[in-house]
Amino acid sequence: MKLTLKIWRQKDSKAKGEFKTYPLEGVEGDMSFLEMLDVLNEGLINKGEEPVVFDHDCREGICGTCSLQINGEPHGPDRLITTCQLHMRMFNDGDTIVIEPFRAKAFPVIKDLVVDRSSFDRIQQAGGFISVNTSGNTIDANAIPVNKHDADESFNSATCIGCGACVAACKNASAMLFTSAKVSQFALLPQGRIEATERVLNMVAQMDKEGFGNCSNTGACEIECPKGISLENIARMNREYLKASIKG
Ligand code: SF4
Ligand code: FES
Repeated sequence: MKLTLKIWRQKDSKAKGEFKTYPLEGVEGDMSFLEMLDVLNEGLINKGEEPVVFDHDCREGICGTCSLQINGEPHGPDRLITTCQLHMRMFNDGDTIVIEPFRAKAFPVIKDLVVDRSSFDRIQQAGGFISVNTSGNTIDANAIPVNKHDADESFNSATCIGCGACVAACKNASAMLFTSAKVSQFALLPQGRIEATERVLNMVAQMDKEGFGNCSNTGACEIECPKGISLENIARMNREYLKASIKG
């Protein structure tokens, strides 16, 4: 395959970025999208040019590090996969592919295609955990009965990998899908109920403080999420938030 890549290049967080065009030949359908970028970078390095900086780690869809806006869609045209799981067979010979970083005020660009997603870490730190007494009197988790439906729903929420595609897909750059998945995974379990009130209040307050937008129920987040996190989580978080606000 012969492709034309239009890639966002930005020297650092303060520089004004711009698209640069790179022709690329010899791309195979079995290559992953990131392998295709590796080929481009090898060519750039051989020519003495600076390679394109992009985020990646596991390259198997579990860490949430890769984060590219490909032809206007977070993680590209395929469904329920991350950028690292996207294969070049999804594209055709002669295609032009536009590659950008995830765009959101709360995800500032660090360089080229890499954005700072530490705002997600701070939302997690505000309440995305349970406190467990580890003094020797810890109750075995299996000793607490959990019904199958709640266990399955909690597990589904916990599959969120924190990639940020939901934010990049949202016209308001809202982080409601991410935050609600992190609230839900605990709200559904007895172990998570103990701190439920302060968890939802603190996590939503941090989300707002980071500058994410409001949810207007467009649903683009659910469509682009590589893990199929459902909008049900947002409804659940809204119910949790209302209950917590009344309790004060
Ligand atoms: S909800 Fe989905 S899109 Fe958003 S951070 Fe989690 S896995 Fe990524
Ligand atoms: S590099 Fe880990 S999910 Fe893509």
